[in-house]
Amino acid sequence: MKKKVAFITGINGQDGAYLAKFLLDKNYSVHGLLRRSSNSKLSRIDYLNIINKITFHSSELNEFKNIEDIIKKIKPDVIYNLAGQSFVQYSFNNPSYTFDINLHSVLNMLEIIRRNKLDTKFYQASTSEMYGNSNVDLQNENTIFQPASPYAISKTAAHHLVVNYRANYKGFFCSGILFNHESFLRGIEFVTKKITDGLVGIIHENTKPIRLGNLDAKRDWGFAGDYVEAMYLMMHYKKPDDYVVATGQTKSIREFIIIACSYLGLCPVFEGEGLNEICYDKKTNKKLIIIDKKYFRAQEVHRLKGDPSKIKKTLKWKPKYNFEKLVEHMVKSQIDNLNSKKKFIF
Ligand code: GDD
Repeated sequence: MKKKVAFITGINGQDGAYLAKFLLDKNYSVHGLLRRSSNSKLSRIDYLNIINKITFHSSELNEFKNIEDIIKKIKPDVIYNLAGQSFVQYSFNNPSYTFDINLHSVLNMLEIIRRNKLDTKFYQASTSEMYGNSNVDLQNENTIFQPASPYAISKTAAHHLVVNYRANYKGFFCSGILFNHESFLRGIEFVTKKITDGLVGIIHENTKPIRLGNLDAKRDWGFAGDYVEAMYLMMHYKKPDDYVVATGQTKSIREFIIIACSYLGLCPVFEGEGLNEICYDKKTNKKLIIIDKKYFRAQEVHRLKGDPSKIKKTLKWKPKYNFEKLVEHMVKSQIDNLNSKKKFIF
């Protein structure tokens, strides 16, 4: 039987790498898009041992003609659009780049499908950032979006495009509204990876304290490996729709630090306030965290907590990792990484 073909943009990111592995295990032929202009690192794909199983293509995401040529050539059954400018803080300084990559490229891909009359299914990576500072306790598919950054605005507009194209042209277009999802493969600019790699570094390599911003923001954190399964289930359901993917629990950055410390035998004490707050280890007096105003955002999203009832009920999806297991995975994988011959940096 002919293998189904998947095309993943952002294949070298955390989600792209996990999804590629997941689809290969489901016997898909996997094609991935890499940026031409950057030194697209393949370290995550290498870590998962799947480099030789993937066909790579290169183009900037916003180059209509190139993307169209690739899609016409490989004729994918499914496109997972996971590429993008995904760092919220960066979007405050570079809003127009963020819009170009996160919004125009989605329009391009939907147009390529429409104009060429393809029956390719399309998955869009939407995000909990679209809710912004929502006053709803548990955010679900019907909660109003109040995006609080250029990143979130670009993602909200792209989300609406997908909904609109689905209604107008009846294509199989769906969005996963994913709350924060982390893993050992997370990029070092994101807070969970900064914390876990930073603490492991302090213990095992005597590195400097970690510099962080707001410790009191709360996020609904899940494991990225669980979330790619949710994407797959959406694309294999009888009809396209949008789903919140979340754990239903919310924890602060401070709580993340405390749990991470517990897996390293550290006893964190927080002292001082605001920019003068520090965190040190009670047993050794070692400084672990320093607050740095550089890492505060022009506008913070204070609390996110998702309601995954719809995906649980309709697609029978359930996360396998809870918060503690996620933090443990990140800490232990980094210790193993430091102890292994081939060290991975993401
Ligand atoms: N990155 C970062 N660095 N964040 C910090 C720091 C720091 O030093 N100190 C505190 N924070 C706080 C941020 O202010 C934010 O409230 C929270 O930690 C999480 O920040 P990030 O890890 O950068 O993630 P995010 O919530 O902004 O966005 C991530 O999740 C979204 C939802 O899935 C990204 O992956 C987005 O692309 C994604 O859409």
